Formats: sequence, structure tokens, C-alpha cells
Amino acid sequence: MKTITLIEGDGIGPEICESVVAVFAAAKVPVTWEKAIAGLEAIEKFGNGVPPETLESITRNKIALKGPTTTPVGGGHKSVNVTIRKGLELYANVRLAKSMPAVETRFDGVDILIIRENVEDTYAGIEHFQTPNVAQCLKLITRQGSMAAIRYAFEEARKLGRKKVTCVHKANIHKITDGLFLEVFRQVAAEYTDIEANDIIVDNCCMQLVSRPEQFDVLVLPNLYGDIVSDLCAGIVGGLGVAPGGNIGKNCAVFEAVHGSAPDIAGKGLANPTAILLSSVQMLQYMGHVGHAEMIQDALTATLASGIKTRDLGGTASTKEFTEAIIARLHPNHDVDLTPVIMAVPAFHAPEVITEDWTLHGADVFVEHKDGLPDMPQSVGPFTLRMLSNRGTKVWPGPTPDILLVDHYRCRYIANGPVTRQDVVALLYEVTAQGKVWCHVELLNEASGQARYSKAQGE
Ligand code: NAI
Repeated sequence: MKTITLIEGDGIGPEICESVVAVFAAAKVPVTWEKAIAGLEAIEKFGNGVPPETLESITRNKIALKGPTTTPVGGGHKSVNVTIRKGLELYANVRLAKSMPAVETRFDGVDILIIRENVEDTYAGIEHFQTPNVAQCLKLITRQGSMAAIRYAFEEARKLGRKKVTCVHKANIHKITDGLFLEVFRQVAAEYTDIEANDIIVDNCCMQLVSRPEQFDVLVLPNLYGDIVSDLCAGIVGGLGVAPGGNIGKNCAVFEAVHGSAPDIAGKGLANPTAILLSSVQMLQYMGHVGHAEMIQDALTATLASGIKTRDLGGTASTKEFTEAIIARLHPNHDVDLTPVIMAVPAFHAPEVITEDWTLHGADVFVEHKDGLPDMPQSVGPFTLRMLSNRGTKVWPGPTPDILLVDHYRCRYIANGPVTRQDVVALLYEVTAQGKVWCHVELLNEASGQARYSKAQGE
């Protein structure tokens, strides 16, 4: 019998997890539960939202079901979900937005599978104040991380018989980072000739989703857009109360409801367990218990279709009453084989690292400076000052545009030929000697005659 790590979580978490445990017991799903803690209880007991024992339990069992956890706002606590996703390299987040019977929405016939890269992007969590007034977040998109999520999207599309995969991005603005995600998408798409592939800019995608959602089949997105767009898709099919999710990793998978811990209704018996039940159905499919998954899905659908709903969906049933109604409709369908199917753990395809001949030929030196443009040295060693920008807009050479100038200037130094890191250190030394307060440096590289960095607005 397979053991599943169960993290009940905070707020309504224990109530909705109890519903899953009761339904699984009634459906005679051959699994046992191993409870582990994460969230507020773990913070109180161990000062850490995800104790090592919990990660160890998931790693050992290779499968977990997780209730929502509360992330204290501000302070030093990292999100439990982000910690679990990153700590276990859960590289793809999978969400299904599918119209459900008796869940009233503005749209019918929606069936969108959303695959979100789950670890990188601004969620790498690398943020710094550059000056007292300027904060920065690094958006990291890697070839390997993008490859893992995008290949998973195409593999799932093929496995589920879906027809089209759409890459959602903002490569018109984030030409380098989202440009890389799109480049990898095109490369992978070329290998799946049986599946249609296209791409769309994220803002247009949102507009299309709220006007004609039925045009989409599978979406694949970088982390931040995926976070937002998948909630938008949840709204289209009836809200977070019915949105399931799974996090697929290299060696394990964690399934969870998409909604939060709903502190406003916790302990009142009002929570809707539909989302976590659908997540557990997704989990059973992943584990190969497809017969049990179908049985539970059918009972849930029949319950909703009969008009029994929790308050968030316009009904009057309590969590317990709703769960009992599902259990009463668990009819083992004798045509369905309940023997588990052996399912292969999805392959982790991220080995491709490319090498290019890079030439260092400059540096962007960011300086903190108030009251007008900084008087930077014009030439230092092999470098010439080529440009100053403020918040990405060129302010020198040429007339300074009438824009808000903050205390953070990018000073672009370029050499005529290749330079070394030692040259850059000498540049910083000279900038410091001239009393300038540098706070950040980026190296400017070229490969095959092409700049591997962006230009300033107006440059
Ligand atoms: P939330 O999803 O907890 O609640 C938003 C609204 O939806 C509330 O009115 C709530 O009552 C309702 N709601 C949510 N799930 C429901 C359910 N199953 N049945 C009936 N009503 C439901 O979002 P909120 O309030 O922004 O976040 C509360 C806490 O949850 C925060 O600490 C947040 O960090 C955390 N959170 C955790 C997540 C996770 O662990 N996966 C995801 C999102 C938020």
C-alpha cells in the first residue's frame, strides 16, 4: 500500500483534508497517510514554516497532498509553498481550469490545462535595495528551467490527447528573459509536430481568456505570468474553491488546492473541499489509480449536479454534509478496473546547456547620485562612457528628457575590444577614487557579434 505525506496546513486546511481522507476511506483507495506539518504550527514549534522532517517525508514517500498554509505578511518568513517548490525542485505547476456542472459561470466548455514554470523568474526571490529609494528584483529565466517546464507541457499534451500548446510571454518588452523562454518553446515545439504550437503576449492572453476562453487548450508560462493567469482561469470556471493544482518534480510531486487558508471561514464548517478533492483526483491519476480517480470525480460531479453545494457556490451544505453527499454517491463502477496502472514519473528534461564564445567588452556601473546627472569619468583605461540612463531611459548623451530622475544611474562603459574582469575592477577603483558611490555592476558581453544585454529606452 502506498504512503502519502499529508500536510493539513492552516485555516480551513484540516477541514478540507479531513474530507479527502473520509472520501478515500469510503472509496477504499489503497493508500495510507503520513501526517507532516508545515505553516503556522511549524513556525510556532520550530521557527521554520517547513521543517526538514516534512521535506524528508515528501522525499521518502515521493507524493504529498497539501492543504493551504498561511504566509505571514512581511517579516522574515518565506512562503511555505515557495520553499517546498524550490527545495524539492518541483519544476512544473499544473492546473486544470475546466467547466464543472452546476457551477455557474459566464462561460461554458472551458477546458484549459495550465503549466507554469514553478521555480524561477522573479520567484527566485533575489531582491535588493540599491539605494534607499530604489529596489530591484532579479528576474531569472534559464534555458534548463524553461526547457523542463515546456517539455513537460508538450509531454502532457501528447499524453492527454490535447491538440495545441500556447506559450504566454512578454517577449516584446522582456526581450532577453522572456525572449529566451520563447526561444526554448520554439525549439521544443519543433520536436512535437503532432501538436499545434503558437504564442501570445500575456496581456492579450488575459483579454482573450475573458472573452473567448474556449480557444485555449494548453498554456505554458513563466512563473509570474503563470501565477496570475492560472488564477484568472480559475475565476473563469467558478473561482478558487474549484481549482486543483499539482507540483511536478524531478523525484516527487505535491498536490494542493489553489486557494489559501481562508482564515475568515476557518473552523466554521463552511469550507468547500472541491478544489482539494480535485487535486487528490489529479494525484490519483498521477499515481496510476485511475479507476479510483474516476470514481471520486464522478461522485463529486454527481453531487454538484444534484444541487448540493457549499455556501461559496451558492448552496447551503456544510463541509461535512457535502462530503457525506459525495460518499453516498461513490458507486464503484464495475466496468472500471481499480487495479493501479503503472505510471512513469514524468522525465525531467533539462540537460541542455549551451556554450557560446563570450567576449567581455564593457560594464554597466550603477551609481547612487542625487541632484542632477552624476559627473562620471569620461574614459578609464580601455573604457569610454557611452551612456547614462535613469530607470532605463537614456538621459545622456543628448538632451535629458523631462522625466522623474531618481538617485540611481546606470553608467555604461564600453571598450573598443575585449577587456578582462581586471579592467572592470580597475574601472570601479577609479569610479570610487573620484568619489562616486557605485552600488551595482553588470558585465556587458557579446557573443557572435551580438550584445547579450539590453539597450536603454532611447539609446
Ligand atoms: P484565500 O484563498 O484564503 O481566500 C480568499 C477568499 O476565498 C476568502 O473569502 C475565502 O473565504 C474564500 N475561499 C478560499 N478557499 C475557499 C474554500 N475552499 N471554500 C470556501 N471559500 C473559500 O486567499 P487570501 O485570503 O488572500 O489568503 C489567506 C492566506 O492563505 C494567506 O496567508 C495566504 O498567504 C495564504 N495562501 C496560501 C496558499 C496555499 O497555501 N496554496 C495559496 C494562496 C494563499
